[in-house]
Amino acid sequence: MKYLFVLTLLIVLAAGGLLGTALVVRWKDNMTQTPRVMPGERVFRMPAGVVPRGGELVIPKEQRELAARVPNPVRGTSESIAIGRERYATFCAPCHGPEARGGVTGPVATKFIPPPDLTNLELQKQRTDGYWHSYIVVGGAVMPAYGEALSSEEAWHIVNFLRSLARK
Ligand code: HEC
Repeated sequence: MKYLFVLTLLIVLAAGGLLGTALVVRWKDNMTQTPRVMPGERVFRMPAGVVPRGGELVIPKEQRELAARVPNPVRGTSESIAIGRERYATFCAPCHGPEARGGVTGPVATKFIPPPDLTNLELQKQRTDGYWHSYIVVGGAVMPAYGEALSSEEAWHIVNFLRSLARK
């Protein structure tokens, strides 16, 4: 009698264990068999007009005319210009030179395309703040984009700094 009980118990336990294993295997296996996207496997295009949370609409460089009409939301106070000067020294001076005179005043410019003199009054008059802001955020013809390194606001500070350099 006792043997029969132990045997039944063993059979029940074995069946339970087998079912449990089958469930776990199916479960884990299913996860790899269903359609899925691995991180970095595909890049999805964002639908037009989508803005990241806390972000701002970035106007592509093909629409510079539109970007040029965006008004400067940051006043050109001395604090703003100071931030702009600091960011300029880090990100822009290597090519544009410490005084934004362009040509080959920046160490990188000697090996790259000499950039224009940003202190030039004619150029300063020709360009709106929005135009230069766009140049910083999405880049130029050959100039790289700084929209990932700098926030939109920092770009406006740099524009304010550049305005303070206009040669009279
Ligand atoms: C790798 C070198 C390089 C760096 C770094 C660089 N620029 Fe430029 N930039 C250029 C070149 C070259 C041009 C001219 C050709 C072009 O339009 O792409 C230019 C053009 C510009 C213009 C356009 C002038 C006009 O109105 O036509 C502005 C404004 C400007 N840069 C600002 C900046 C600012 C601000 C930074 C820093 C955030 C910066 N650049 C960083 C190389 C650079």
